[in-house]
Parts: sequence; C-alpha cells; structure tokens
Amino acid sequence: MLNTLTQQPADALLALIKLHNIDPRADKIDLGVGVYRTGQGDTPVFGAIKAAEARLVAEQDSKAYLGPEGDMGFVEKLMPYIFGADSADLGGRIEGMQTPGGTGSLRLALAMVKRAGYSRVLVGKPSWPNHNQICADLGLDVFEFNHATPDGRTDMEALRGALAAAGEGDAILLHGCCHNPTGIDYSNAEWDEIAGLLGASKVLPIIDLAYQGLGLGMEEDAYGLRRVLAQVPEALVSYSCDKNFGLYRDRVGALYVVVGDPADLTKVISNGHALARANWSQPPDHGAAAVRLVLEDEALTAQWLDELHQMRDRMRQVRARLGAAGKTGGVDLTPVGNQHGLFSIIPFTAEQVQAMRAEHGIYFAASGRINVAGLTMGNIDQFLAAVESVTA
Ligand code: LMR
Repeated sequence: MLNTLTQQPADALLALIKLHNIDPRADKIDLGVGVYRTGQGDTPVFGAIKAAEARLVAEQDSKAYLGPEGDMGFVEKLMPYIFGADSADLGGRIEGMQTPGGTGSLRLALAMVKRAGYSRVLVGKPSWPNHNQICADLGLDVFEFNHATPDGRTDMEALRGALAAAGEGDAILLHGCCHNPTGIDYSNAEWDEIAGLLGASKVLPIIDLAYQGLGLGMEEDAYGLRRVLAQVPEALVSYSCDKNFGLYRDRVGALYVVVGDPADLTKVISNGHALARANWSQPPDHGAAAVRLVLEDEALTAQWLDELHQMRDRMRQVRARLGAAGKTGGVDLTPVGNQHGLFSIIPFTAEQVQAMRAEHGIYFAASGRINVAGLTMGNIDQFLAAVESVTA
C-alpha cells in the first residue's frame, strides 16, 4: 500500500539550503533559510553556549530520561525574559514544558487547540509557511487575513475585521516580534489595541515568539505578548531558542499554557504531556540544558545578552544600508530600513527571483523573502547591483 502515497514536494525553504550548497560560484549569496550570519558570513555557536556545553560535558552525570516535559529548569529560567521579571507566572496561571524547537511547540499548541474543540485558526497572510502546514496536517481550518499593506504597514483594518467576524471555536496565531516573512511588526500602540480586542473577544491567542531579542531588544520584543496576556484569560505561547541562542539544529523550544483559573493548570498542561508522549515522547536534552546553564550563571547570561546585542546591531546596520539605497532598479528598499528581525519581503516577481538565482547566484524564497543577515558589508553592493539589474 505504501506505493499509493503521492510524491510530496520538498519544503521550499529547506530546499534552498541545498540549492545554494550545490551552486559552484564563489560569490554566491545565501539569503534563504533563517539563520543569523556574522559580518564574515558564518553562523558560529554562541560563546556563552560553547562555555555551557563544555560545562555540561564535564558535569552532566546522567542522560536518563527526564519525562515528556523535559528540563523544567530551562522552562522556568526563560519565564522572566518572556513574561517579565515581575509577573513571570501571572499569579500561578502559567505552566510550561520543553519542546523540540518552536515547531514542536507549535505542533503541541495547535494539537491542544484541536483537542479543546477549536476548529479554525486565524493567520495573518503571508505567514511562515509551516504555520499553515501544521494546521492542515491537524485538520484545522485556516482563515487568512491580510497582515500588511503594500506600502509596508500592518493592515490593522484586516485584523480588526477578522477578529470582529470570529468568535468561540476560533484561535488566532500571532507573531510576537520579527514577523516572518515580512519583518513588519505591530507597534506598541497597535499591540495595545490588539490586546483590548482579544480581551473583549472569545478568540484564543496563540503567540509564536521565535525571535525574541533579534528585533528591538529582549524586553521590547516581548511587549505585545505581555500586553495580550494582561487582557485575556487563556492563551498559548510557543517559544524558540533556535535563533536567540543560535541552537537551530539542536531543536530548543518551549510551550507555555496560560489559563484563567490556576486550578485548571495541571489538567491543561497534562494534555501537552500526553501529546508530547504520542509524538516524540521526550524532547532532546542537550541544547535546553546548555541554555539552562547559561541562564543559571550571571556571567554567561551577560555574555549571551551581549552576543545577542551584537547580532541585533549588525542586522540594523544591514537594514540601514538597504533602506538608504532607497529606489533600486524597479523596487523601493526604503521600508526594509524600518523593519525588524531576520526577514523582509522585496516585491520581486517570480521571474526576478529566478534571475537572481540563475544570473547572480543569490538565493532567497520564492515569496521574495530575504534573510537580511545573509548580507554583509562585503556582499551588499553585489546584492544591490543584482537587484538593480533584474528589476530595472
Ligand atoms: C525560516 O523561516 O527560515 C526559519 O524559521 C527556519 C525554518 O524552520 O523554516
């Protein structure tokens, strides 16, 4: 019966890694999958993580199972950064568990939503493609509303309309910061409004916080999430350490559930544990244990925050250069200067995306999403010249 299965396309984002790798040109540029790169084009292991890993190797005395919730020290140490030092557990209304990356967390969040009887998820379009893929795999309907206007602002009208038309049985998936793929984030005033709208509605917020610290700062990037949680009785938060600790392939994430009544917490999170058991049983330990060691140590925490700061500054410099380039060929790069995180969308046509690959060896998603961290002061002029030539 296996031969009745139909051929599935390779994941378009992950396929870019291979397409770039096999291109023999020395001056090729990878602006595809979302990994941070230094000014030299590398994605090194954070110094703070290397130090924690060395300690882990020296001191970890067992690799016996921990259980479906994983490393709870890791889960708890992250909470003040996510939810705020003063209200890290919202009065006993939050419980978390470790997951394999942000994707594992989203998978659990959406499966839990499905179990609880929700049937539809509101998703701003465009979104990270895996959001829709996970919903589809779980049999959840997706209702797409427009995330951004063509001139590069958030489309608040569309969001207001989607929420007004939604109600019981609906959840909404929101990007906490560094919107993937557009880089167009809600302002603080817009988050205030969204929090109010969600507080007055029956729609369940699921907040995907995969890039905390890569936008404006660790605190600043949590503003929207904290405002929403201050207004709603229930929510789910999917967290990823892939980017802000540089642990991509180690798959480090967490799921937090927020309930209205602390008495429901054990029951609700037990569903996360049961779903984890049926999916991967228990999350991989190494990366999360390294993060915990960083966060348990003041000096390593300071080092990590400093490394994150440097990443953020470099991406701001690249964005400033792109923004200052302004009108380049047939596209306007000005908005890129004001956007946040790793990604921006440049309105290339499908032919222009192909021409950038074929003629210039510059790889990025078919949507026109570029990973700005793939640009360096050494290759940005080459990129701008290529944009000029294919869009002129
Ligand atoms: C991306 O969007 O490039 C990253 O989040 C990596 C991934 O898993 O897709």
